[in-house]
Amino acid sequence: MPQYSISPTGEKFPLPEPEDYSREFEHLEEVVKNQRALGREIVLVMGLGFVGAVMAAVIADAKDEKGNPIKYVIGMQRPSTRSYWKTPLLNRGISPVSSEDPEVPLMISRCVNEKRTLMATFTYDALKLADVVVVDVQCDYLKESLGNVRDGRADMEALEESLEIIGQHIGPETLVLIETTVAPGTTEQIAYPIIKKMFRKRGIQSDPLLAHSFERVMPGKHYVSSIRDFWRVCSGVNEKATSKVVKFLEEVINTEKYPLTVLDRPIESETAKIVENSFRATILAFLDEWSIFAEQNGVDLIKVINAIKVRPTHSNMIFPGPGIGGYCLPKDGGLGLWAYRHIHGFEDDIFKITPLAVDINDTRSLHVAQLTRDALRNMGRPIASAEILVLGASYREDVGDTRYSGSELIVRRLTEMGAELRVHDPYVLHWWEFEKQDEYPASSHSLKRFFRGQEKLRDLRVEQDLKKALLGADTVILAVRHKHYLNLDPDDIVKYADGPIAVIDCFGILDDEKISRYFELGCEVKGLGRGHVKRIKDQVREAKSQLPLNIPVQFAEDKM
Ligand SMILES: NC(=O)c1ccc[n+]([C@@H]2O[C@H](COP(=O)([O-])OP(=O)(O)OC[C@H]3O[C@@H](n4cnc5c(N)ncnc54)[C@H](O)[C@@H]3O)[C@@H](O)[C@H]2O)c1
Repeated sequence: MPQYSISPTGEKFPLPEPEDYSREFEHLEEVVKNQRALGREIVLVMGLGFVGAVMAAVIADAKDEKGNPIKYVIGMQRPSTRSYWKTPLLNRGISPVSSEDPEVPLMISRCVNEKRTLMATFTYDALKLADVVVVDVQCDYLKESLGNVRDGRADMEALEESLEIIGQHIGPETLVLIETTVAPGTTEQIAYPIIKKMFRKRGIQSDPLLAHSFERVMPGKHYVSSIRDFWRVCSGVNEKATSKVVKFLEEVINTEKYPLTVLDRPIESETAKIVENSFRATILAFLDEWSIFAEQNGVDLIKVINAIKVRPTHSNMIFPGPGIGGYCLPKDGGLGLWAYRHIHGFEDDIFKITPLAVDINDTRSLHVAQLTRDALRNMGRPIASAEILVLGASYREDVGDTRYSGSELIVRRLTEMGAELRVHDPYVLHWWEFEKQDEYPASSHSLKRFFRGQEKLRDLRVEQDLKKALLGADTVILAVRHKHYLNLDPDDIVKYADGPIAVIDCFGILDDEKISRYFELGCEVKGLGRGHVKRIKDQVREAKSQLPLNIPVQFAEDKM
Protein backbone atom coordinates (compact mmCIF):
# COMPACT_ATOMS: atom_id res chain seq x y z
CA MET A 1 0.00 0.00 0.00
CA PRO A 2 1.54 3.36 -0.95
CA GLN A 3 1.80 5.78 1.96
CA TYR A 4 0.71 9.39 1.66
CA SER A 5 1.55 12.71 3.22
CA ILE A 6 -1.36 15.17 3.24
CA SER A 7 -0.83 18.93 3.07
CA PRO A 8 -2.94 21.30 5.24
CA THR A 9 -5.14 22.05 2.23
CA GLY A 10 -5.81 18.33 1.78
CA GLU A 11 -3.56 17.53 -1.19
CA LYS A 12 -2.21 13.96 -1.08
CA PHE A 13 1.43 13.25 -1.92
CA PRO A 14 2.68 9.63 -2.16
CA LEU A 15 5.87 9.11 -0.16
CA PRO A 16 8.97 8.36 -2.26
CA GLU A 17 9.59 4.70 -3.14
CA PRO A 18 13.07 3.10 -2.75
CA GLU A 19 13.78 3.46 -6.48
CA ASP A 20 13.08 7.22 -6.34
CA TYR A 21 16.15 7.88 -4.22
CA SER A 22 18.87 7.13 -6.80
CA ARG A 23 16.96 9.10 -9.44
CA GLU A 24 16.64 12.06 -7.08
CA PHE A 25 20.35 12.01 -6.27
CA GLU A 26 21.35 11.90 -9.95
CA HIS A 27 19.14 14.93 -10.52
CA LEU A 28 20.72 16.73 -7.55
CA GLU A 29 24.26 16.00 -8.81
CA GLU A 30 23.39 17.53 -12.16
CA VAL A 31 21.82 20.63 -10.57
CA VAL A 32 24.77 21.10 -8.21
CA LYS A 33 27.32 20.74 -11.05
CA ASN A 34 25.59 23.55 -12.93
CA GLN A 35 25.32 25.74 -9.85
CA ARG A 36 28.99 25.29 -8.99
CA ALA A 37 29.85 26.29 -12.54
CA LEU A 38 28.03 29.57 -11.78
CA GLY A 39 30.33 30.03 -8.77
CA ARG A 40 27.64 29.39 -6.16
CA GLU A 41 28.19 27.71 -2.84
CA ILE A 42 25.84 24.80 -2.02
CA VAL A 43 23.91 25.17 1.23
CA LEU A 44 21.71 22.42 2.63
CA VAL A 45 19.05 23.42 5.15
CA MET A 46 17.93 20.43 7.20
CA GLY A 47 14.33 20.66 8.44
CA LEU A 48 11.76 22.75 6.54
CA GLY A 49 9.69 23.90 9.52
CA PHE A 50 8.81 27.41 10.68
CA VAL A 51 12.49 28.36 10.82
CA GLY A 52 14.13 26.23 8.12
CA ALA A 53 11.68 26.99 5.29
CA VAL A 54 12.14 30.74 5.55
CA MET A 55 15.85 30.64 6.44
CA ALA A 56 16.38 28.51 3.28
CA ALA A 57 14.69 31.22 1.20
CA VAL A 58 16.68 34.02 2.86
CA ILE A 59 19.94 32.23 1.96
CA ALA A 60 18.73 31.48 -1.58
CA ASP A 61 17.87 35.16 -2.01
CA ALA A 62 21.33 36.39 -0.93
CA LYS A 63 23.31 38.23 -3.60
CA ASP A 64 26.69 39.84 -4.21
CA GLU A 65 27.31 43.57 -4.84
CA LYS A 66 26.39 43.10 -8.49
CA GLY A 67 23.07 41.54 -7.54
CA ASN A 68 24.00 37.99 -8.57
CA PRO A 69 22.90 35.04 -6.43
CA ILE A 70 25.77 33.56 -4.44
CA LYS A 71 24.21 30.45 -2.90
CA TYR A 72 22.24 27.49 -4.14
CA VAL A 73 20.01 26.08 -1.41
CA ILE A 74 18.69 22.56 -1.05
CA GLY A 75 16.00 22.28 1.62
CA MET A 76 16.03 18.78 3.09
CA GLN A 77 12.93 17.46 4.77
CA ARG A 78 12.63 13.88 6.02
CA PRO A 79 9.91 12.05 4.08
CA SER A 80 7.55 11.26 6.97
CA THR A 81 3.78 11.04 6.43
CA ARG A 82 3.47 14.11 8.67
CA SER A 83 5.92 16.37 6.85
CA TYR A 84 6.84 15.05 3.39
CA TRP A 85 4.25 17.29 1.65
CA LYS A 86 6.51 20.29 2.35
CA THR A 87 9.05 19.01 -0.22
CA PRO A 88 6.83 18.86 -3.35
CA LEU A 89 5.05 22.07 -2.34
CA LEU A 90 8.29 24.00 -1.94
CA ASN A 91 9.47 22.66 -5.31
CA ARG A 92 6.44 24.36 -6.86
CA GLY A 93 7.47 27.59 -5.18
CA ILE A 94 4.76 27.39 -2.53
CA SER A 95 5.63 28.18 1.06
CA PRO A 96 5.11 25.28 3.47
CA VAL A 97 4.42 27.76 6.28
CA SER A 98 1.54 30.22 6.36
CA SER A 99 2.38 33.76 7.34
CA GLU A 100 1.08 37.27 7.67
CA ASP A 101 4.29 38.50 6.04
CA PRO A 102 3.64 38.81 2.29
CA GLU A 103 7.39 38.57 1.68
CA VAL A 104 7.43 34.86 2.66
CA PRO A 105 5.43 33.45 -0.29
CA LEU A 106 6.92 36.02 -2.68
CA MET A 107 10.50 35.21 -1.71
CA ILE A 108 9.99 31.45 -1.89
CA SER A 109 8.28 31.66 -5.25
CA ARG A 110 10.99 34.04 -6.58
CA CYS A 111 13.87 31.81 -5.45
CA VAL A 112 12.31 28.58 -6.77
CA ASN A 113 10.74 29.75 -10.03
CA GLU A 114 12.67 32.84 -11.14
CA LYS A 115 16.14 32.91 -9.61
CA ARG A 116 16.21 29.11 -9.47
CA THR A 117 18.36 29.13 -6.35
CA LEU A 118 16.14 27.00 -4.13
CA MET A 119 14.82 23.46 -4.25
CA ALA A 120 13.73 20.81 -1.76
CA THR A 121 14.62 17.16 -1.52
CA PHE A 122 13.88 14.08 0.57
CA THR A 123 17.20 12.29 0.24
CA TYR A 124 19.93 12.51 2.85
CA ASP A 125 22.47 11.86 0.08
CA ALA A 126 22.10 15.57 -0.75
CA LEU A 127 24.33 16.20 2.27
CA LYS A 128 27.28 14.83 0.28
CA LEU A 129 27.01 17.84 -2.03
CA ALA A 130 26.86 20.59 0.62
CA ASP A 131 29.49 23.20 1.50
CA VAL A 132 27.38 24.37 4.43
CA VAL A 133 24.69 22.48 6.34
CA VAL A 134 22.24 24.56 8.37
CA VAL A 135 20.43 22.47 10.99
CA ASP A 136 16.88 23.65 11.68
CA VAL A 137 15.29 20.50 13.07
CA GLN A 138 13.37 20.62 16.33
CA CYS A 139 14.69 19.86 19.80
CA ASP A 140 11.71 19.50 22.10
CA TYR A 141 11.32 19.55 25.84
CA LEU A 142 8.78 16.99 26.94
CA LYS A 143 6.91 17.76 30.15
CA GLU A 144 5.50 14.90 32.17
CA SER A 145 3.09 16.98 34.23
CA LEU A 146 1.18 20.22 33.84
CA GLY A 147 2.76 23.20 35.57
CA ASN A 148 5.98 21.47 36.64
CA VAL A 149 8.78 21.93 34.13
CA ARG A 150 11.24 20.10 36.39
CA ASP A 151 9.31 16.94 35.66
CA GLY A 152 10.44 16.63 32.06
CA ARG A 153 13.34 16.06 29.71
CA ALA A 154 14.92 17.32 26.52
CA ASP A 155 13.86 15.24 23.53
CA MET A 156 17.02 15.10 21.46
CA GLU A 157 15.89 12.27 19.19
CA ALA A 158 15.36 14.23 15.94
CA LEU A 159 18.48 16.31 16.52
CA GLU A 160 20.76 13.38 17.39
CA GLU A 161 19.45 11.39 14.45
CA SER A 162 20.08 14.37 12.14
CA LEU A 163 23.62 14.81 13.45
CA GLU A 164 24.43 11.14 12.92
CA ILE A 165 23.14 11.31 9.36
CA ILE A 166 25.14 14.49 8.77
CA GLY A 167 28.31 12.79 10.06
CA GLN A 168 27.70 9.85 7.73
CA HIS A 169 27.39 12.01 4.63
CA ILE A 170 29.20 15.38 4.68
CA GLY A 171 32.71 16.12 3.49
CA PRO A 172 35.45 17.06 5.99
CA GLU A 173 35.41 20.74 4.96
CA THR A 174 31.64 21.18 5.28
CA LEU A 175 30.54 23.72 7.88
CA VAL A 176 27.68 22.47 10.07
CA LEU A 177 25.75 25.39 11.52
CA ILE A 178 23.31 24.39 14.25
CA GLU A 179 20.48 26.93 14.50
CA THR A 180 18.22 24.72 16.58
CA THR A 181 17.65 25.98 20.12
CA VAL A 182 19.50 23.39 22.16
CA ALA A 183 20.34 22.57 25.75
CA PRO A 184 23.53 24.59 26.45
CA GLY A 185 26.52 22.33 25.85
CA THR A 186 24.92 20.37 22.99
CA THR A 187 27.16 21.58 20.14
CA GLU A 188 30.42 20.72 21.89
CA GLN A 189 29.38 17.78 24.06
CA ILE A 190 26.77 16.01 21.95
CA ALA A 191 26.99 17.12 18.31
CA TYR A 192 30.77 17.26 18.05
CA PRO A 193 31.41 13.71 19.35
CA ILE A 194 28.60 12.25 17.22
CA ILE A 195 29.97 13.73 13.99
CA LYS A 196 33.58 13.05 14.91
CA LYS A 197 32.78 9.36 15.55
CA MET A 198 31.12 9.12 12.13
CA PHE A 199 34.14 10.84 10.53
CA ARG A 200 36.55 8.36 12.09
CA LYS A 201 34.41 5.44 10.92
CA ARG A 202 34.67 6.85 7.42
CA GLY A 203 38.44 7.31 7.74
CA ILE A 204 38.23 11.12 7.92
CA GLN A 205 40.94 12.27 10.33
CA SER A 206 40.13 15.99 10.53
CA ASP A 207 37.79 17.38 13.17
CA PRO A 208 34.25 18.46 12.30
CA LEU A 209 33.65 22.13 11.58
CA LEU A 210 30.72 22.91 13.83
CA ALA A 211 29.13 26.18 14.87
CA HIS A 212 26.04 27.44 16.67
CA SER A 213 23.96 30.52 15.90
CA PHE A 214 20.43 30.68 17.21
CA GLU A 215 17.39 32.04 15.41
CA ARG A 216 15.35 34.96 16.70
CA VAL A 217 12.67 34.55 14.08
CA MET A 218 9.18 35.86 14.79
CA PRO A 219 6.73 34.14 12.42
CA GLY A 220 4.38 37.15 12.11
CA LYS A 221 4.19 40.29 10.01
CA HIS A 222 7.98 40.66 9.97
CA TYR A 223 8.86 37.00 9.47
CA VAL A 224 11.55 37.53 6.81
CA SER A 225 13.17 40.59 8.33
CA SER A 226 13.27 38.91 11.76
CA ILE A 227 15.68 36.44 10.14
CA ARG A 228 17.56 38.59 7.64
CA ASP A 229 17.58 42.05 9.22
CA PHE A 230 18.27 41.26 12.81
CA TRP A 231 21.22 40.83 15.17
CA ARG A 232 22.85 37.43 15.38
CA VAL A 233 25.07 35.70 17.89
CA CYS A 234 27.40 32.91 16.77
CA SER A 235 30.35 30.79 17.80
CA GLY A 236 32.38 27.88 16.38
CA VAL A 237 34.03 24.88 18.04
CA ASN A 238 37.41 26.03 16.75
CA GLU A 239 38.95 28.98 14.91
CA LYS A 240 38.32 27.54 11.47
CA ALA A 241 34.65 26.84 12.23
CA THR A 242 34.26 30.33 13.72
CA SER A 243 35.74 32.09 10.70
CA LYS A 244 33.60 29.97 8.36
CA VAL A 245 30.37 30.73 10.25
CA VAL A 246 31.17 34.45 10.41
CA LYS A 247 31.84 34.54 6.65
CA PHE A 248 28.64 32.61 5.93
CA LEU A 249 26.39 34.79 8.09
CA GLU A 250 27.96 37.96 6.69
CA GLU A 251 27.06 36.77 3.21
CA VAL A 252 23.43 35.86 3.89
CA ILE A 253 22.28 38.12 6.75
CA ASN A 254 22.26 41.91 6.89
CA THR A 255 25.24 42.09 9.29
CA GLU A 256 26.27 45.52 8.06
CA LYS A 257 23.25 47.10 9.70
CA TYR A 258 22.84 44.42 12.38
CA PRO A 259 26.37 43.46 13.43
CA LEU A 260 27.22 39.94 14.50
CA THR A 261 28.21 39.13 18.07
CA VAL A 262 30.86 36.42 17.99
CA LEU A 263 31.23 34.56 21.28
CA ASP A 264 34.19 32.42 22.34
CA ARG A 265 32.44 29.08 22.60
CA PRO A 266 29.19 27.56 21.28
CA ILE A 267 27.94 26.99 24.84
CA GLU A 268 27.87 30.78 25.19
CA SER A 269 25.77 31.19 22.06
CA GLU A 270 23.48 28.37 23.24
CA THR A 271 23.20 29.92 26.70
CA ALA A 272 22.43 33.34 25.21
CA LYS A 273 19.35 31.89 23.53
CA ILE A 274 18.09 30.17 26.66
CA VAL A 275 18.73 33.20 28.90
CA GLU A 276 17.14 35.56 26.37
CA ASN A 277 13.93 33.51 26.30
CA SER A 278 13.92 32.79 30.04
CA PHE A 279 14.20 36.54 30.69
CA ARG A 280 11.17 37.12 28.50
CA ALA A 281 9.25 34.27 30.14
CA THR A 282 10.10 35.68 33.56
CA ILE A 283 8.88 39.23 32.96
CA LEU A 284 5.64 37.81 31.59
CA ALA A 285 5.16 35.41 34.50
CA PHE A 286 5.85 38.18 37.00
CA LEU A 287 2.65 39.95 35.95
CA ASP A 288 0.46 36.92 36.62
CA GLU A 289 0.17 37.62 40.36
CA TRP A 290 -0.48 41.31 39.68
CA SER A 291 -3.14 40.32 37.21
CA ILE A 292 -4.99 38.45 39.98
CA PHE A 293 -4.37 41.35 42.37
CA ALA A 294 -5.94 43.70 39.81
CA GLU A 295 -9.01 41.51 39.35
CA GLN A 296 -9.63 41.36 43.08
CA ASN A 297 -9.09 45.05 43.82
CA GLY A 298 -10.86 46.96 41.08
CA VAL A 299 -7.69 47.71 39.14
CA ASP A 300 -7.33 47.68 35.36
CA LEU A 301 -3.86 46.20 34.87
CA ILE A 302 -3.81 47.28 31.24
CA LYS A 303 -3.98 50.95 32.25
CA VAL A 304 -1.43 50.36 35.01
CA ILE A 305 1.05 48.82 32.55
CA ASN A 306 0.54 51.63 30.06
CA ALA A 307 1.17 54.15 32.83
CA ILE A 308 4.44 52.43 33.75
CA LYS A 309 5.64 51.88 30.20
CA VAL A 310 6.11 55.59 29.58
CA ARG A 311 9.28 55.22 31.65
CA PRO A 312 11.92 54.25 29.09
CA THR A 313 13.54 51.79 31.52
CA HIS A 314 10.24 49.87 31.74
CA SER A 315 9.05 50.13 28.16
CA ASN A 316 9.21 46.39 27.48
CA MET A 317 6.63 45.50 30.12
CA ILE A 318 3.96 43.41 28.44
CA PHE A 319 0.59 42.06 29.49
CA PRO A 320 0.77 38.26 29.50
CA GLY A 321 -2.62 37.37 27.98
CA PRO A 322 -3.91 33.84 28.59
CA GLY A 323 -0.55 32.16 29.13
CA ILE A 324 2.57 32.18 27.06
CA GLY A 325 2.57 29.83 24.13
CA GLY A 326 4.61 29.42 21.00
CA TYR A 327 7.26 26.84 20.43
CA CYS A 328 10.08 28.54 22.31
CA LEU A 329 9.17 30.23 25.60
CA PRO A 330 7.43 27.21 27.17
CA LYS A 331 10.38 24.90 26.58
CA ASP A 332 13.63 26.84 26.50
CA GLY A 333 14.00 27.27 30.28
CA GLY A 334 13.50 23.51 30.62
CA LEU A 335 16.38 22.88 28.21
CA GLY A 336 18.62 24.96 30.49
CA LEU A 337 17.66 23.07 33.66
CA TRP A 338 18.03 19.74 31.92
CA ALA A 339 21.47 20.62 30.54
CA TYR A 340 22.81 21.54 33.99
CA ARG A 341 22.14 18.04 35.28
CA HIS A 342 22.19 15.79 32.24
CA ILE A 343 24.95 17.32 30.10
CA HIS A 344 27.11 18.95 32.75
CA GLY A 345 26.47 16.47 35.58
CA PHE A 346 25.60 18.84 38.45
CA GLU A 347 23.37 17.47 41.21
CA ASP A 348 22.46 20.71 43.01
CA ASP A 349 19.32 22.66 42.30
CA ILE A 350 20.35 26.20 41.40
CA PHE A 351 17.31 27.18 39.37
CA LYS A 352 14.42 28.96 41.08
CA ILE A 353 13.08 31.74 38.87
CA THR A 354 13.45 30.09 35.46
CA PRO A 355 11.29 27.01 36.21
CA LEU A 356 8.79 29.02 38.26
CA ALA A 357 8.24 31.39 35.34
CA VAL A 358 7.63 28.53 32.91
CA ASP A 359 5.22 26.86 35.35
CA ILE A 360 3.23 30.07 35.90
CA ASN A 361 3.02 30.73 32.18
CA ASP A 362 2.03 27.13 31.44
CA THR A 363 -1.00 27.28 33.74
CA ARG A 364 -2.12 30.91 33.55
CA SER A 365 -4.82 30.20 30.97
CA LEU A 366 -6.66 27.86 33.39
CA HIS A 367 -7.82 30.98 35.20
CA VAL A 368 -9.81 31.91 32.08
CA ALA A 369 -12.00 28.88 32.69
CA GLN A 370 -12.73 30.16 36.21
CA LEU A 371 -13.66 33.61 34.91
CA THR A 372 -15.96 31.98 32.34
CA ARG A 373 -17.60 29.83 35.00
CA ASP A 374 -18.16 32.88 37.23
CA ALA A 375 -19.46 35.10 34.44
CA LEU A 376 -21.99 32.48 33.41
CA ARG A 377 -22.98 31.90 37.03
CA ASN A 378 -23.67 35.63 37.38
CA MET A 379 -26.03 35.28 34.45
CA GLY A 380 -27.74 32.31 36.06
CA ARG A 381 -26.36 29.87 33.50
CA PRO A 382 -24.44 26.70 34.31
CA ILE A 383 -21.09 26.03 32.68
CA ALA A 384 -22.16 22.49 31.81
CA SER A 385 -23.50 22.45 28.25
CA ALA A 386 -22.83 26.18 27.82
CA GLU A 387 -21.95 27.06 24.22
CA ILE A 388 -18.57 28.76 24.37
CA LEU A 389 -16.85 30.41 21.45
CA VAL A 390 -13.09 30.96 21.68
CA LEU A 391 -11.86 33.72 19.38
CA GLY A 392 -8.28 32.85 18.42
CA ALA A 393 -6.48 29.51 18.45
CA SER A 394 -2.92 30.65 17.82
CA TYR A 395 -0.40 31.63 20.46
CA ARG A 396 -0.06 35.25 19.43
CA GLU A 397 -1.72 37.88 17.33
CA ASP A 398 -1.89 37.66 13.55
CA VAL A 399 -0.09 34.34 13.13
CA GLY A 400 -1.40 30.85 12.41
CA ASP A 401 0.93 28.99 14.80
CA THR A 402 -1.06 27.12 17.46
CA ARG A 403 1.83 25.48 19.29
CA TYR A 404 1.24 25.53 23.06
CA SER A 405 -1.28 28.35 22.73
CA GLY A 406 -3.15 29.47 25.85
CA SER A 407 -6.36 28.82 23.90
CA GLU A 408 -5.65 25.09 23.84
CA LEU A 409 -5.72 24.88 27.62
CA ILE A 410 -8.83 27.06 27.81
CA VAL A 411 -10.62 24.66 25.48
CA ARG A 412 -9.38 21.60 27.36
CA ARG A 413 -10.32 22.85 30.83
CA LEU A 414 -13.77 24.12 29.81
CA THR A 415 -14.47 20.85 28.00
CA GLU A 416 -13.54 19.01 31.18
CA MET A 417 -16.04 21.23 33.01
CA GLY A 418 -18.79 20.12 30.64
CA ALA A 419 -19.00 23.08 28.25
CA GLU A 420 -19.42 22.78 24.48
CA LEU A 421 -16.57 24.52 22.70
CA ARG A 422 -16.31 26.13 19.30
CA VAL A 423 -13.48 28.17 17.86
CA HIS A 424 -12.86 30.83 15.27
CA ASP A 425 -9.47 31.86 13.92
CA PRO A 426 -8.86 33.60 10.59
CA TYR A 427 -5.28 32.30 10.42
CA VAL A 428 -5.79 28.66 11.40
CA LEU A 429 -7.40 26.13 9.06
CA HIS A 430 -6.69 23.05 11.16
CA TRP A 431 -6.05 22.97 14.86
CA TRP A 432 -3.95 19.80 14.77
CA GLU A 433 -3.50 19.77 18.56
CA PHE A 434 -7.15 18.65 18.62
CA GLU A 435 -7.82 17.13 15.21
CA LYS A 436 -4.82 14.85 15.61
CA GLN A 437 -4.55 14.94 19.35
CA ASP A 438 -2.97 11.49 19.59
CA GLU A 439 0.00 12.58 17.47
CA TYR A 440 0.45 16.29 18.27
CA PRO A 441 2.79 17.70 19.36
CA ALA A 442 4.30 14.21 19.59
CA SER A 443 2.89 10.76 20.06
CA SER A 444 1.37 10.48 23.59
CA HIS A 445 2.45 14.00 24.47
CA SER A 446 -0.76 15.85 23.82
CA LEU A 447 -1.88 18.13 26.66
CA LYS A 448 -5.03 16.02 26.44
CA ARG A 449 -3.52 13.62 28.95
CA PHE A 450 -3.83 16.18 31.75
CA PHE A 451 -7.61 16.55 31.39
CA ARG A 452 -10.63 14.26 31.42
CA GLY A 453 -13.35 13.91 28.80
CA GLN A 454 -11.24 15.11 25.88
CA GLU A 455 -12.13 12.52 23.23
CA LYS A 456 -14.83 14.61 21.53
CA LEU A 457 -12.33 17.39 20.88
CA ARG A 458 -10.97 15.35 17.98
CA ASP A 459 -14.00 16.70 16.09
CA LEU A 460 -13.31 20.35 16.93
CA ARG A 461 -13.01 22.32 13.69
CA VAL A 462 -11.92 25.93 13.28
CA GLU A 463 -14.78 28.05 11.96
CA GLN A 464 -13.76 30.78 9.52
CA ASP A 465 -17.10 32.61 9.46
CA LEU A 466 -17.45 34.72 12.60
CA LYS A 467 -21.21 35.25 12.28
CA LYS A 468 -21.78 31.53 11.98
CA ALA A 469 -19.49 30.84 14.92
CA LEU A 470 -21.40 33.31 17.09
CA LEU A 471 -24.90 32.01 16.49
CA GLY A 472 -26.35 30.72 19.76
CA ALA A 473 -23.15 31.26 21.78
CA ASP A 474 -23.49 31.78 25.56
CA THR A 475 -19.95 33.05 25.95
CA VAL A 476 -17.33 34.68 23.79
CA ILE A 477 -13.72 34.42 24.94
CA LEU A 478 -11.45 37.01 23.33
CA ALA A 479 -8.30 34.90 23.55
CA VAL A 480 -5.92 36.40 20.97
CA ARG A 481 -5.30 39.96 19.81
CA HIS A 482 -5.85 39.18 16.12
CA LYS A 483 -6.58 42.43 14.27
CA HIS A 484 -10.01 40.99 13.35
CA TYR A 485 -11.06 41.06 17.02
CA LEU A 486 -9.85 44.49 18.08
CA ASN A 487 -12.86 46.47 16.89
CA LEU A 488 -15.80 44.12 17.20
CA ASP A 489 -18.98 46.01 17.89
CA PRO A 490 -20.86 44.82 21.03
CA ASP A 491 -24.23 45.40 19.35
CA ASP A 492 -23.23 43.16 16.43
CA ILE A 493 -21.88 40.45 18.72
CA VAL A 494 -25.07 40.34 20.78
CA LYS A 495 -27.17 40.41 17.60
CA TYR A 496 -25.27 37.52 15.98
CA ALA A 497 -25.23 35.52 19.21
CA ASP A 498 -28.96 36.09 19.43
CA GLY A 499 -29.03 37.48 22.96
CA PRO A 500 -26.88 38.63 25.89
CA ILE A 501 -23.71 36.67 26.44
CA ALA A 502 -20.75 36.44 28.78
CA VAL A 503 -17.66 38.14 27.34
CA ILE A 504 -14.24 37.17 28.64
CA ASP A 505 -11.44 39.51 27.65
CA CYS A 506 -8.08 37.75 28.00
CA PHE A 507 -5.89 40.37 26.36
CA GLY A 508 -7.05 43.88 27.21
CA ILE A 509 -8.97 44.02 23.94
CA LEU A 510 -12.07 45.84 25.22
CA ASP A 511 -11.95 49.53 26.03
CA ASP A 512 -14.18 50.93 28.76
CA GLU A 513 -16.76 52.15 26.28
CA LYS A 514 -17.24 48.66 24.84
CA ILE A 515 -17.34 47.07 28.30
CA SER A 516 -19.99 49.58 29.25
CA ARG A 517 -22.01 48.84 26.12
CA TYR A 518 -21.90 45.08 26.77
CA PHE A 519 -23.37 45.73 30.24
CA GLU A 520 -26.07 47.96 28.75
CA LEU A 521 -26.97 45.08 26.45
CA GLY A 522 -27.45 42.76 29.44
CA CYS A 523 -24.14 40.92 28.98
CA GLU A 524 -21.65 39.98 31.66
CA VAL A 525 -17.98 40.94 31.21
CA LYS A 526 -14.85 39.64 32.90
CA GLY A 527 -11.23 39.89 31.92
CA LEU A 528 -7.76 38.83 32.94
CA GLY A 529 -6.30 41.63 35.03
CA ARG A 530 -9.41 43.79 34.55
CA GLY A 531 -10.77 44.39 38.02
CA HIS A 532 -12.39 47.69 37.01
CA VAL A 533 -15.19 46.02 35.02
CA LYS A 534 -17.25 45.73 38.21
CA ARG A 535 -17.04 49.52 38.59
CA ILE A 536 -18.27 49.99 35.01
CA LYS A 537 -21.10 47.55 35.68
CA ASP A 538 -22.17 49.55 38.75
CA GLN A 539 -22.06 52.78 36.76
CA VAL A 540 -24.26 51.30 34.03
CA ARG A 541 -26.64 49.95 36.68
CA GLU A 542 -26.75 53.36 38.38
CA ALA A 543 -27.44 55.14 35.09
CA LYS A 544 -30.23 52.73 34.26
CA SER A 545 -31.87 53.19 37.65
CA GLN A 546 -32.05 56.91 37.03
CA LEU A 547 -33.91 56.56 33.76
CA PRO A 548 -37.14 58.62 33.98
CA LEU A 549 -39.41 55.65 33.31
CA ASN A 550 -37.32 53.39 35.47
CA ILE A 551 -37.37 50.69 32.82
CA PRO A 552 -36.55 47.39 34.53
CA VAL A 553 -33.21 46.08 33.29
CA GLN A 554 -31.96 42.60 34.00
CA PHE A 555 -28.45 42.60 35.45
CA ALA A 556 -26.26 39.63 35.98
CA GLU A 557 -25.62 39.35 39.73
CA ASP A 558 -22.10 39.18 41.04
CA LYS A 559 -21.85 36.05 43.10
CA MET A 560 -18.11 35.81 43.26
N1 LIG B 1 9.31 28.78 15.47
C1 LIG B 1 9.91 29.80 16.03
O1 LIG B 1 9.31 30.85 16.17
C2 LIG B 1 11.37 29.72 16.49
C3 LIG B 1 12.03 30.90 16.85
C4 LIG B 1 13.35 30.84 17.25
C5 LIG B 1 13.98 29.60 17.32
N2 LIG B 1 13.31 28.45 16.99
C6 LIG B 1 14.02 27.18 17.09
O2 LIG B 1 14.33 26.68 15.80
C7 LIG B 1 14.26 25.26 15.80
C8 LIG B 1 13.30 24.77 14.73
O3 LIG B 1 12.01 25.25 15.05
P1 LIG B 1 10.79 25.17 14.04
O4 LIG B 1 9.74 26.04 14.61
O5 LIG B 1 11.24 25.42 12.64
O6 LIG B 1 10.40 23.61 14.21
P2 LIG B 1 9.48 22.74 13.24
O7 LIG B 1 9.03 21.56 14.04
O8 LIG B 1 8.48 23.61 12.56
O9 LIG B 1 10.48 22.24 12.12
C9 LIG B 1 11.42 21.23 12.25
C10 LIG B 1 11.45 20.48 10.93
O10 LIG B 1 12.56 19.58 10.95
C11 LIG B 1 12.16 18.38 10.30
N3 LIG B 1 13.07 17.30 10.66
C12 LIG B 1 13.20 16.65 11.83
N4 LIG B 1 14.17 15.71 11.74
C13 LIG B 1 14.67 15.79 10.49
C14 LIG B 1 15.68 15.09 9.79
N5 LIG B 1 16.36 14.09 10.35
N6 LIG B 1 15.95 15.44 8.50
C15 LIG B 1 15.26 16.44 7.93
N7 LIG B 1 14.28 17.13 8.51
C16 LIG B 1 13.99 16.81 9.79
C17 LIG B 1 10.74 18.19 10.81
O11 LIG B 1 10.03 17.27 10.01
C18 LIG B 1 10.20 19.63 10.70
O12 LIG B 1 9.69 19.91 9.41
C19 LIG B 1 13.83 24.86 17.21
O13 LIG B 1 14.96 24.55 17.96
C20 LIG B 1 13.20 26.10 17.75
O14 LIG B 1 13.27 26.17 19.15
C21 LIG B 1 12.02 28.50 16.56
